[in-house]
Amino acid sequence: MTDAPNKTGAPNIVILTGAGISRESGLATFRDPDGIWQQVRIEDVATPEAYRRDPERVQAFYNARRAQLADVAPNAAHLALAELDRRWPGELLLVTQNVDDLHDRAGSRRLLHMHGELRRAWCRACDATHPWDEDLGMATACPACATMGRMRPHIVWFGEMPLHMDAIEAALARCDLFVSIGTSGNVYPAAGFVAEVRGRAETVELNLEPSEGTHLVDRAVHGPATRIVPDFVADLLARRA
Ligand code: APR
Repeated sequence: MTDAPNKTGAPNIVILTGAGISRESGLATFRDPDGIWQQVRIEDVATPEAYRRDPERVQAFYNARRAQLADVAPNAAHLALAELDRRWPGELLLVTQNVDDLHDRAGSRRLLHMHGELRRAWCRACDATHPWDEDLGMATACPACATMGRMRPHIVWFGEMPLHMDAIEAALARCDLFVSIGTSGNVYPAAGFVAEVRGRAETVELNLEPSEGTHLVDRAVHGPATRIVPDFVADLLARRA
């Protein structure tokens, strides 16, 4: 790992997380045998066409997932990344594909949700987004423009552009260490980040099992996130002490 030419001398870090980091908090992943896409089809709840065809069904799917957040808490992996965020003197960006709020509640600040957030709603009439805890429905009025029937979950669906890509690409261009945690490496553009940085940044995968991107990384550690992520963070901080 090359020390970055920033003022602190600490390498710049980009961390990408996926559903696997939240699994031990009790939230399902997508492609594991008990995953969400084994219960419901992407085409029925996670595309703009699904929303046009049956908005109530899509709203109900995300209302149920939003309601689950009240029953789960950040786990040791989320908390370890929040501690790294607090203590890392160099640049650090946590990019999550997850739409849960567990990184936020753990205390991560240098955090971007590239697939949106269950706890935000998006008005398609005025484009405003709002913090959101309640159910969303076709009668929901936008707090900004009062239009009814145009509020949707602030979730990036398949076929839509992920959020914050300029900031993410800028961080990837400068990163010296890229860590992928709890993601199967099936969905782009996130799945392409490791190929983008390999060769000029050290690349690490922390996952329960090999992913689609394991063959591209310099180092892979396999095991449950609540064990391997705190170990990884402790080692990283010890090497900087
Ligand atoms: N600890 C670490 N990794 C785990 C754990 C665990 N306890 N449990 C599961 N995993 C790993 C799985 O081995 C798998 O590689 O987490 C990964 C989860 O993969 P997916 O279910 O495909 O989830 P993710 O990679 O986040 O999906 C990416 O796809 O459906 C879209 O928008 C959705 O953001 C999501 C994107």
